[in-house]
Amino acid sequence: MGGGCRARAPAPPRSAALLPRGLRLLLAPVMLLCAAGSAGTVNPCCYYPCQHQGVCVSVGLDGYECDCTRTGYSGANCTSPELWTRLRALLKPSPAVFHFVLTHFKWLWDVINATFVRDTLMRLVLTVRSNLIPSPPTFNSAYGYLSWEAYANVSYYTRVLPPVPDGCPTPMGTKGRKQLPDAQLLAERFLLRRKFEANPKGTNLMFAFFAQHFTHQFFKTYGKMGRGFTKALGHGVDLGHLYGDNLQRQHQLRLFRDGKLKFQVVDGEVYPPTVADAPVHMVYPPAMPKEQQMAMGQEVFGLLPGLCLYATLWLREHNRVCDILKQEHPTWSDEQLFQTARLILIGETIKIVIEDYVQHLSGYFLSLKFDPELLFGVQFQYRNRIAVEFNQLYHWHGLMPDSFVIQGEEYSYEQFLYNTSMLMHYGVEALVESFSKQIAGRIGGGQTINANVLKVAVGVIKESRQLRLQPFNEYRKRFGMKPYKSFQELTGEEEKAAELEELYGDIDALEFYVGLLLEKPQPDSLFGESMVEIGAPFSLKGLLGNPICSPEYWKPSTFGGATGFEIVKTASLEKLVCLNVKKCPYVSFNVPDSVESGATGRHQDGGPSTEL
Ligand code: HEM
Ligand SMILES: *[C@@H]1O[C@H](CO)[C@@H](O)[C@H](O)[C@H]1NC(C)=O
Ligand SMILES: *[C@@H]1O[C@H](CO)[C@@H](O)[C@H](O)[C@H]1NC(C)=O
Ligand SMILES: *[C@@H]1O[C@H](CO)[C@@H](O)[C@H](O)[C@H]1NC(C)=O
Ligand SMILES: *[C@@H]1O[C@H](CO)[C@@H](O)[C@H](O)[C@H]1NC(C)=O
Repeated sequence: MGGGCRARAPAPPRSAALLPRGLRLLLAPVMLLCAAGSAGTVNPCCYYPCQHQGVCVSVGLDGYECDCTRTGYSGANCTSPELWTRLRALLKPSPAVFHFVLTHFKWLWDVINATFVRDTLMRLVLTVRSNLIPSPPTFNSAYGYLSWEAYANVSYYTRVLPPVPDGCPTPMGTKGRKQLPDAQLLAERFLLRRKFEANPKGTNLMFAFFAQHFTHQFFKTYGKMGRGFTKALGHGVDLGHLYGDNLQRQHQLRLFRDGKLKFQVVDGEVYPPTVADAPVHMVYPPAMPKEQQMAMGQEVFGLLPGLCLYATLWLREHNRVCDILKQEHPTWSDEQLFQTARLILIGETIKIVIEDYVQHLSGYFLSLKFDPELLFGVQFQYRNRIAVEFNQLYHWHGLMPDSFVIQGEEYSYEQFLYNTSMLMHYGVEALVESFSKQIAGRIGGGQTINANVLKVAVGVIKESRQLRLQPFNEYRKRFGMKPYKSFQELTGEEEKAAELEELYGDIDALEFYVGLLLEKPQPDSLFGESMVEIGAPFSLKGLLGNPICSPEYWKPSTFGGATGFEIVKTASLEKLVCLNVKKCPYVSFNVPDSVESGATGRHQDGGPSTEL
């Protein structure tokens, strides 16, 4: 593998210039050898030599050491398994087998759901997934080694894998071409949607906007500081998208009466206040008057009626919970009512995300359970730090359709984006019903992104280069999967694979986001295996790592007593909507069976899979 050396050979290594002339001459043959194909002067960590989560440290001028401590492996590259590791590896089924079992044999799961085995498996899912996330966090985009700065400066997103070392022979380390394919070209060729295809799960726009709304409380890249930074310092489910990401903004949004948030009433319905009433910075087209701008916790939520819809639902829910709390605690201050309502809403969010959202996404027949007590007997750190990799992988713009259909009326992107009148014109019920009935696109599998949002994908690819994300295959290994051996194996076909091979030169040089989106999707799924195996650990760690899930917090008094605790424990998407509207619409994360619109192979609510 001499690619690296060829890169270095023309210019002698910096260190050589410092050597006496005689020694430099001595070095010359070595460099010649190197140019002829052996590795000599490259930072050896560019080869990612350390396996099984061993830590690569460069030593001396061109040596390295793998720190294999507690990996269960030893040897120069942490490749020799210890006895117990060998045994465990033998017994442990691959992610693919796990996934197969969890998405088949419905009859078996119908039995398991009703027994203690459900708890045991749920605990297993939570611990196995969470254990893949370093906690406390480790690297960030500026620090590829442990440092106090990376730990303490929460303005950074964290990183599970350190950046590609500086000065490697190729952009991805040592594999692949000297130059990565043009990002715009990659996006147009492999990511741009040609023709809309309904996703095979029946996932709808209600799900898509939930995903976007929920994740934008912790994905708030702080472009002004740089792509590796975040504005959301809570690093998790803190409902900053409802209450603002700082105290000043929160205070502007609060009514300071009965713990409630400011609101406006239009046609007898409650909506978020205008920016005139709650003067917070919102992103809107420049000409839009303040009276038409809605003020919300997240500054970008004016972008889409789907985001304003969820902002409205959660605002109504907050004020509804305040009324209930006030009834039980008439002596409580505004502050205590507000703070307690916020904790209740955080709990409701986590409940809905696990039991409605992740349940839908996973396609598992195991009935998922939000019960923090499952983890009280095991080692678990109640903390979380949002990672760059999690942000990258959550760019699910393929979900977006080609147009938006509200009560039979079709709207283009131009009409839909920043449309501030649509929500109040149709009302919450109509939007919920329409979004619940419109099917979303697929995320993975290639050519799934509408032209209107393609530039976001280009941005993701550019960001991953700027932040020097390691190759897709390194992430596959880090999250317990086998690296792909070829582009054919990745895409499951020949044509695109050949083009990719031509562009990247080597499967081990394929980029993270491109790999995630071009991997062949699992049957009946929105995306491939890697999205699940890498995304689920971040997701579950973020949900259960919340302080309200800790033994100190998880008790009735935290939520104002038994009533508040019960609200958390029984929350659902349906209740979020139906307790906050006059007439309950069709509300779900999947389209009703009658409007499957060409989706094939669904057995979401059906009998046992025919694949058996
Ligand atoms: C029509 C709908 C949508 C539009 C117009 C849109 C547009 C955008 C834009 C302009 C950005 C900023 C890119 C940048 O920082 O350079 C962005 C970021 C992002 N989008 Fe979307 N998006 C849409 C739907 C979605 C959906 C459904 C999801 C689902 C999860 C999603 C997930 C994300 C994520 C995770 C980010 C990164 C946010 C950050 O780091 O600050 N988007 N989107
Ligand atoms: C360790 O990895 C390096 C780089 O991939 C390789 O050249 C070397 O042969 C490996 N050493 C052992 C003992 O496996
Ligand atoms: C975090 O790091 C950035 C970049 O070095 C710096 O500008 C910022 O002030 C740091 N934040 C804190 C709180 O130290
Ligand atoms: C078990 O859970 C799955 C997923 O929620 C569901 O499809 C199935 O009907 C459940 N069975 C029982 C008996 O609860
Ligand atoms: C916003 O949506 C309404 C329907 O509620 C539509 O009549 C109007 O044309 C849209 N606005 C723009 C600027 O397209």
